[in-house]
Amino acid sequence: MPTVRTTPAPHVRGAISQLIDAEELTAPCAAVDVAGFDHNARRMRSRALGLPIRVASKSLRSVAALRRALSHEGYRGVLAYSVPEALHLAREGFDDILVAYPSVNRPAVRELAGDGQLGAAVTLMVDAVEHLDLICSVAAAAAPVRVAIDIDCALHLPGAAIGPRRSPIRTPEQTSALAREIARRPQLRLVGMMGYEGQVASVADAEPGVAGAAKRWLRSSSMRQLAPRRAECVAAAREVADLEFVNGGGTGSLEVSALDDSLTELAAGSGFYTPVIFDRFADIDHVAAAFFACQVSRLPVAGWATVNSGGWIASGPPAPDRVPVPVHPPGLRHSATEGAGEVQTPLRGGDLRIGDLVWFRHAKAGEMTEHVDRLTAVHPDGTHETWDTYRGQGWTFR
Ligand SMILES: Cc1ncc(COP(=O)(O)O)c(C=O)c1O
Repeated sequence: MPTVRTTPAPHVRGAISQLIDAEELTAPCAAVDVAGFDHNARRMRSRALGLPIRVASKSLRSVAALRRALSHEGYRGVLAYSVPEALHLAREGFDDILVAYPSVNRPAVRELAGDGQLGAAVTLMVDAVEHLDLICSVAAAAAPVRVAIDIDCALHLPGAAIGPRRSPIRTPEQTSALAREIARRPQLRLVGMMGYEGQVASVADAEPGVAGAAKRWLRSSSMRQLAPRRAECVAAAREVADLEFVNGGGTGSLEVSALDDSLTELAAGSGFYTPVIFDRFADIDHVAAAFFACQVSRLPVAGWATVNSGGWIASGPPAPDRVPVPVHPPGLRHSATEGAGEVQTPLRGGDLRIGDLVWFRHAKAGEMTEHVDRLTAVHPDGTHETWDTYRGQGWTFR
């Protein structure tokens, strides 16, 4: 069943309105529905069919949100997105941090490699000998740097590949060769593997019509082709090293990735907030748990209201599905000529007055937090707490 509630609950709207009226908060601001966040955590755990879930930090970008996510049963470890971020998180007390993407940030890798405690908490991703050489150029042999191999999980068709363009490591032979290169270097220790089937995890399977049928075909063909290849790659690496983990999947693929016996854990982050891009997945019976609110500042003409801010566009191929969706009050639509604006956003419909709040959902998860210094996390009884965002802490990782 697709997303079951897409609007902010009355207690969330009430708490934010009160804070704004009391001048303790100003719009634009972002809110998390804590009960919704927890509900989504439980749903993802059940969708993961017993496999532990590593929390994808890029999709939360808040230390408090990460802590809350990891406080739930079934969650273990962080899937971070940059080495400087991993260093910050390790210093905040997080351990078992896997940096999901290879880094060429030499100073950050040097800092990690030079500190035994940080080095024990963080694993770096590699998919090329150049990555190994970079790490070895700054690392001492005394405390080997933990590394994991990322393998390509795209769907390969004659003359084309559909899926993330990431790792060049595609076959068991390539996996074995890279694993042996790692084993030859005393500065490195191979501890894990990752293979992310993005063309499954980010492609909605409940869309109607021909497009929906094509997407369902893509998802099932991908998993059919991938399962034996991923298993062979994992077996090839296991011949060289004892692997602590093999990570795969994401919010959009938990129940299908969990069926792949070669995975020891899954990854998920966006599902805690459940942004708009997950609304058309058949099995994501989550609730929307993160929103942002902008305030009406002018009424240009009857039937229209303009809010300050609002143009929080998501990354990815530029398209209408990257634009935030006004979800409350109901019936609001963007202007076809202006869309969601840089500093103000005209909206058509509704019966709004100056000062009213308009609630939006972001298309994606973590990117929303880059626009705010904090999240106001509202509990069902209307009480709230402040969750810091990376941006609010001055953490900018790209
Ligand atoms: C390596 C990796 N794993 C998992 C995910 C899934 O993250 P989420 O659950 O936030 O969609 C992503 C997202 O891009 C990713 O890059």
